[in-house]
Amino acid sequence: MLITFEGIDGSGKSTQIDLLRDKLSKRGYRVEVFREPGGTDISELIRGMLLNPELEINPVTELLLFSAARSQLIAEKVTPLLNEDAIVILDRFYDSTTAYQGYGRESLPLVQIQQINEIASHSITPDITFYLKISLEESAKRTSHMEKDRMEKSSNSFYERVVLGFEEMAKTEKRIKTIDSRFSPIEIHRKILQELKAFLPL
Ligand code: ADP
Ligand code: TYD
Repeated sequence: MLITFEGIDGSGKSTQIDLLRDKLSKRGYRVEVFREPGGTDISELIRGMLLNPELEINPVTELLLFSAARSQLIAEKVTPLLNEDAIVILDRFYDSTTAYQGYGRESLPLVQIQQINEIASHSITPDITFYLKISLEESAKRTSHMEKDRMEKSSNSFYERVVLGFEEMAKTEKRIKTIDSRFSPIEIHRKILQELKAFLPL
């Protein structure tokens, strides 16, 4: 089973993934977690380029680098694990590409982004996606103490388009569950488990 987490920076993805990993492991499931971009040697090297604030990257190049990192992760790690019936949790997946490179950067028309997403993911689709929804103000508060990477140096209007992208996808894609993430971590965790009960005995 493939579970993905999406949402803007600071929405609580890592916090929720840690809670979910513990819960599923305690229930006896084999769980593997990867972050995007990352999770393989090649993908981590690409991540270093993508987040380096000293580099200027063309928007189409950026799109293709996120996609290249994803292709390697899916081929090298995710597909073999899914074939062994593990539960794979991804901290971001191709919905981030649609939101950031499609809506945010407006690098290419959305239909082309979708085609690239399909290629880069080797046609894998998540069984369920949790979109952790918070406002830009809340995101800024939660991440104010952190150093900004290249992506985070993007303008406010960029982030407004990214949020719009996530909202539009969540409206149209049934697999995407919107989770109001203004609550405490444990309350959000319970809502996530509630949704997952349709897929797994918990
Ligand atoms: P992400 O992985 O989406 O960037 P994190 O899980 O790293 O988000 O959380 C970003 C920051 O917000 C961390 O300091 C974390 O402790 C805090 N945080 C996470 N979830 C919540 C929550 N539900 N309410 C308040 N703060 C939170
Ligand atoms: P990361 O630190 O993993 O995210 P977060 O701040 O949410 O913990 O950084 C990944 C950055 O890359 C983040 O700003 C989102 C961006 N990104 C894209 O622009 N496109 C993509 O396809 C992916 C996977 C991430």
